[in-house]
Amino acid sequence: MRKKVIAGNWKMYKIHDEALHFVNSVSDRVPSKFEVETIIFAPFLFLKCLTKASGDNLKIGAQNMHFEKEGAYTGEVSAAMLKSIGINHVIIGHSERRKYFNETDAMVNKKLQAAFDAKIVPILCVGETLEEREKQLTKSVLKEQITLDLLNFTEKDLSTLIIAYEPIWAIGTGKTATEVEAEDACSYIRTLISDQFGEAISQKIRIQYGGSVKPSNIEKILSQKNIDGVLIGGASLNSEDFIKMTLAALK
Ligand code: PGA
Repeated sequence: MRKKVIAGNWKMYKIHDEALHFVNSVSDRVPSKFEVETIIFAPFLFLKCLTKASGDNLKIGAQNMHFEKEGAYTGEVSAAMLKSIGINHVIIGHSERRKYFNETDAMVNKKLQAAFDAKIVPILCVGETLEEREKQLTKSVLKEQITLDLLNFTEKDLSTLIIAYEPIWAIGTGKTATEVEAEDACSYIRTLISDQFGEAISQKIRIQYGGSVKPSNIEKILSQKNIDGVLIGGASLNSEDFIKMTLAALK
């Protein structure tokens, strides 16, 4: 049984007091970490104080990091810096990073390597644009992303990896993939992992769906065989909605 992972991606929302208030009010109400893995991906600035406030069952992660160990990279944050304040999870290759900050698959690959080296669990985001879906290119896009992003890794490297299938047309648009579309893509990703790294790891790896997940659609999405959790943007900003969605993973 793969443990479900319910993750909130706050993006560039919330100031310090709002972030702290959220974590203080949800930390005692999310499911036990033995049943569901719950993570909030917060802005860098608040990671340390949120980690202190988050308790046993809620984890705090970073939304990005640089691939170099250290160096003259103004404004960047390394894996070792995250690790030094107790951060063990990071989102890599979110479509907004790819689109607005020109992150390529080669950079995503290096960031994953840096995360594995630092023993930080990465959530690798992949997914197609609306145009690609309409041209029926979803599978070829996923294949290319998975192949390039995971280039030169071994089955062992992948043991902690989480993948999030996030169709770009569903992110922040209110337009969710149907549970059938989401399951199709996640099951295809599992097949790709099996073909490239073996059946055993493909059964172990957790694959999330992301894109306009909210309390009203989460149960259908989580009921699918190959969907092991969700990455939630907008709806993770509201503490009551977020708690509801973590509890949905217990059903
Ligand atoms: P959304 O964002 O839930 O607001 O669509 C998802 C994401 O970007 O991870």
